[in-house]
Amino acid sequence: MTTTDPFPTSLLGDEDVRVLLLENIHIDGADFLRGKGYQVETRDGALGEDELIEAIQGVHLLGIRSTTYITEKVLDAAPDLIAIGAFCIGTNQIDLPAATERGIAVFNAPYSNTRSVVELAIAEIISLARRLHEKSTDMHNGVWNKSAAGSHEVRGRTLGIVGYGNIGSQLSVIAEALGFKVVFYDIDDKLALGNAKRCSTIEELLQISDVVTLHVDGRPGNAGLFGAEEMAQMKPRSLFLNLSRGIAVDTAALRQHIESGHIAGAALDVFPVEPKRQGDPFESDLRGLPNVILTPHVGGSTEEAQQDIGRFVASKLRSYASAGGTSLSVNLPEINLPSDATKHRLALVHRNHPGVLARINGLLGEHEVNIEAQSLSTRGELGYVLTDVAAEVGPDVLKELAGLPETVRLRQLS
Ligand SMILES: NC(=O)c1ccc[n+]([C@@H]2O[C@H](COP(=O)([O-])OP(=O)(O)OC[C@H]3O[C@@H](n4cnc5c(N)ncnc54)[C@H](O)[C@@H]3O)[C@@H](O)[C@H]2O)c1
Repeated sequence: MTTTDPFPTSLLGDEDVRVLLLENIHIDGADFLRGKGYQVETRDGALGEDELIEAIQGVHLLGIRSTTYITEKVLDAAPDLIAIGAFCIGTNQIDLPAATERGIAVFNAPYSNTRSVVELAIAEIISLARRLHEKSTDMHNGVWNKSAAGSHEVRGRTLGIVGYGNIGSQLSVIAEALGFKVVFYDIDDKLALGNAKRCSTIEELLQISDVVTLHVDGRPGNAGLFGAEEMAQMKPRSLFLNLSRGIAVDTAALRQHIESGHIAGAALDVFPVEPKRQGDPFESDLRGLPNVILTPHVGGSTEEAQQDIGRFVASKLRSYASAGGTSLSVNLPEINLPSDATKHRLALVHRNHPGVLARINGLLGEHEVNIEAQSLSTRGELGYVLTDVAAEVGPDVLKELAGLPETVRLRQLS
């Protein structure tokens, strides 16, 4: 593998690929990359901008979680960097436009903790229906309160899921197996799984659901999605959960509806303002209420999810470094590859202008480079083309390809 800075001259062997993994990424990620022969350095903590700039010199693949910020300044100081793996769900900590402009691929793990969130939601729904939190707290305080009052089975109840994406739809399947009738509302057209029924408005869902659970994404329009008006439309004595985005819920309004008894219980894993560091104080309108379960944004935090994230993102980085695969890249055009075995392959990220492919192929033809296979994909302003050729391409050809006005980044892989 080689990159275009200033232009490619020689191939890098797998053993020359340098990887830096920060923030205590699961060991399986490092092991997977070492298995390919890459040189992998791991560090426990996050790095600030200046430390990162120092550490990233000569690094081709960088792995981070949510607290290392990848700014334009960092990217400018990292000419060898070809890909960043966010070993988490979100990529807000990365300046994506700046990475894209430089042809640096970004990968994340959008699905690895879906099941963990679903299992927590199920556990909380049953806990709220049986008032487990209250009963356990009573017992710890030495109170024996054996009573069926206010405790219910979930069988035959209606679960209303707002946001039927990865998490919402998986929750739907498991909830049905528990005997729930499932209804959902999503702003996009979504296939109803099992016997779930789609509601055409959120109001319809609120009026028929015994439990309402939010699984929407963090688009700006979802700030304040669920306030006093929506809560008032819920069935009396229903339950409410939010394991999606803190900003979606008006917590002061929720407190009022719980105190009035209109909402019989709630479980919240995400909050409009969350402590930045471990041990920082937690403030919320919802503290101290009965039958309210509060958890510190741990919906997706299980050892299984961390392990899965480690393996998943490492496999994306390896496929990109060794074979140019961009399947599920956050920012580059996607090209799916059957395996990471290549013959001689040119990976070229370019500006998406008319005629680029003809220019690339014309140039290869002039130099009598025979094209054996080719895949092109475009995404917004960028195009990405993988070209398999019969033999290693010489430095003169690479220099000319790198010099095309549309070329953003060129690598030769073997
Ligand atoms: N608590 C945790 O630890 C944790 C872990 C993982 C994910 N999450 C959060 O859970 C949420 C869901 O994750 P996902 O992977 O299922 O996301 P997703 O993108 O697959 O699904 C989100 C769904 O919500 C829908 N939606 C968006 N706005 C809506 C609205 N106003 N009304 C109705 N539907 C709307 C979208 O169309 C989409 O189908 C995200 O916000 C994610 O950040 C939390």
